[in-house]
Amino acid sequence: MSDSILSRNSILKIDGVSKTFSTKAGVVKAVDDASFHAGWGEVTVIIGPSGSGKTTLLYLVGSLEKPEAGAIEVSSTDICQSDFDLASYRRSGVGFVFQFFNLIPTLTSLENVTLPMDLAGVPKPDQERRATDLLARMGIDDQRVQRSKPTKLSGGQCQRVAIARALANDPDLILADEPTGNLDTATSKSVTELLGALAHEDGKCVLIVTHDESILEIADQAFHMTDGKLESVGA
Ligand SMILES: Nc1ncnc2c1ncn2[C@@H]1O[C@H](COP(=O)(O)OP(=O)(O)OP(=O)(O)O)[C@@H](O)[C@H]1O
Ligand SMILES: [Mg+2]
Repeated sequence: MSDSILSRNSILKIDGVSKTFSTKAGVVKAVDDASFHAGWGEVTVIIGPSGSGKTTLLYLVGSLEKPEAGAIEVSSTDICQSDFDLASYRRSGVGFVFQFFNLIPTLTSLENVTLPMDLAGVPKPDQERRATDLLARMGIDDQRVQRSKPTKLSGGQCQRVAIARALANDPDLILADEPTGNLDTATSKSVTELLGALAHEDGKCVLIVTHDESILEIADQAFHMTDGKLESVGA
């Protein structure tokens, strides 16, 4: 890790984090002593083969899993301590983008984006206005598309809605797991550019785990992950 990364005002600090799973086949060290820092306005990309621990690392940062060793700090707060406000963190501290979009099929695009706002207690009149703006920012400005359910949309449109949903409560941190894994090349490129803009224009901290080497184009720092271990690729 370069000195400049260490000296920057990091929002995300992962220090010596490990996670093992006990399975019938034995103990798997999914994340093995991982450390890196990431700042505001930066894209961090972690590339690795299947089973290397990428999703587990993302879930640790998103507090969907707990590490058994190491520390994870977000904005100088240890997210693993017992009195950390997990509900608030998940609601508005962090936004997730997934490979298969994970939109709610019975809700329209607009409703998928307003739902997290509803859960966070955003006043109703503000929800729709903000969701419409976020969808337009993601290139979904057609009202018919905004009022359509995910089954009527293309993969690229679904991922744009999913990114708008991740931004619903304006989190500092965006976590993306194989965000282009289900998209064609041209659509992957535009979704990658949107994720880059979230960091480089909006100042968010964007962490992407992927097999897709083309995402390295937007990386400010990058790591290879192999058998749970991170190695800098000095992007
Ligand atoms: N909940 C779990 N219980 C048991 N083992 C798990 C669990 N989650 C992950 N693992 C194991 O941890 C290792 C890392 O898995 P992980 O899903 O993090 O890899 P990945 O890099 O995201 O893979 P892929 O590219 O296929 O998504 C694998 O050996 C996996 O089987
Ligand atoms: Mg994975």
